[in-house]
Amino acid sequence: MTESITVRVPAKVNVQLAVGAARPDGFHDLANVFLAVSLYDEVTATPADGLRITCSGPDAGQVPLDATNLAARAATALAGRYGVSPDVHLHIAKDIPVAGGMAGGSADGAGALLACDALWGTGASREELLDICAELGSDVPFSLVGGAALGTGRGERLTPLEVGGTFHWVFAVADGGLSTPAVYGEFDRLAAGTDVPAPAASPALLEALRTGDTALLAGALVNDLQPAALSLRPSLAGTLAAGTAAGALAGLVSGSGPTTAFLVKDEEAARTVADALLASGTCRTARVATSPAAGATQIRT
Ligand code: C5P
Repeated sequence: MTESITVRVPAKVNVQLAVGAARPDGFHDLANVFLAVSLYDEVTATPADGLRITCSGPDAGQVPLDATNLAARAATALAGRYGVSPDVHLHIAKDIPVAGGMAGGSADGAGALLACDALWGTGASREELLDICAELGSDVPFSLVGGAALGTGRGERLTPLEVGGTFHWVFAVADGGLSTPAVYGEFDRLAAGTDVPAPAASPALLEALRTGDTALLAGALVNDLQPAALSLRPSLAGTLAAGTAAGALAGLVSGSGPTTAFLVKDEEAARTVADALLASGTCRTARVATSPAAGATQIRT
């Protein structure tokens, strides 16, 4: 009998996050260009009596271990569909910043889903897994798929994108998280009385990804949530300034923040910018990563 299954899942950065007006259901239509990056959580599923979540890693104390954890919700959703009992211990080895705008919670949801599917032998199709992911949250389908993709609707409807090279990043991790609903709420407050255009993917950005052109990508990075994140966390402006002063080609808030992402020329520039960001005192820690990265993948049984 299988003892346990481990799945590795990447973080993401949004290289374009175009946000439309609030919909009647409270969500926002997006043109959301996701790029998976090489920071990973690992989710291990082991048979147990009942459903139990544990978490390890430097930020483990900030991760909820109850039924609200996306990994728990994923296991419950899969078990419900297949009429099995969600008797599983899910351990999350967390390396993705918590509540940082890098889809760490979504990664754990996608990882738990894949791990439980393998452990229980439910044999769900890719389509069914993606359906469950979309029920769990707007960013969860991308965590399963990885690579690069355009997300439309509330971000859950994915079109895979071609990526023609490797991009190098530095992520400045801030102290404390930012609530995604709060950032969208601030977006609505700032947009009140203005005409919010329908979101559309930028042709220059898609071309930059397709050709692997770092300079072109640097000029095309855009996040419509950035003014809202900066309004709630003004200190992020100092982090962005420190990263670009250190030689990053461009910097932006990652998703709803407060992690900031810096695109750099190569691995050496990444180390220089990471060191400078740390020395600037404008972030808690700085992480180096590359993209694209593979989606949720079983790595051990
Ligand atoms: O889908 P998810 O649970 O990740 O969304 C978290 C929150 O982010 C939502 O409750 C909503 O406030 C906001 N959101 C949004 N529009 C989207 C995605 C998320 O307003 N397209």
